[in-house]
Amino acid sequence: MANALIMVLNGPNLNLLGAREPEVYGTGTLDDLETLCAETAEGLGIGIEFRQSNLEGELISWIHEARGRAAGLVINPAAYSHTSIAIMDALAALDIPVIEVHLSNIHKRESFRHHSYVSGAADGVICGLGFAGYRLALIALSDILEEDQ
Ligand code: DQA
Repeated sequence: MANALIMVLNGPNLNLLGAREPEVYGTGTLDDLETLCAETAEGLGIGIEFRQSNLEGELISWIHEARGRAAGLVINPAAYSHTSIAIMDALAALDIPVIEVHLSNIHKRESFRHHSYVSGAADGVICGLGFAGYRLALIALSDILEEDQ
């Protein structure tokens, strides 16, 4: 769908990308990730809004904002994945495709990371592929939106 708007939301501590546990999350910064997403979107002919918040309520407000505005949503809820029924509920109320992304492979890490509430409301989940996961999520959403036309 040409010119479709995709929201790309990032949860807590992802503002520290590049400095935070680089052996887990890599050395690229959040700005680098935004650039990759913007370039990918441009190539796909879609628009993105890329945001990060350390606050659960702000992420929920942005998910509400996506209603009626965005055609799809990519979200890395970070640690809220493992705790937030409120984010899951906000996503469940959306009628646009949602892809959950994690930079690291959460299934290879501590057991408390193995369960994501958010996955229960996502159409697809990508983890363990670093920044490429966001690129792949945007490509998948673009495909889904084309198919829905
Ligand atoms: C993360 C994985 C989460 O378990 C963790 O709390 C994060 C980042 C990831 O992108 O790999 O903050 O979502």
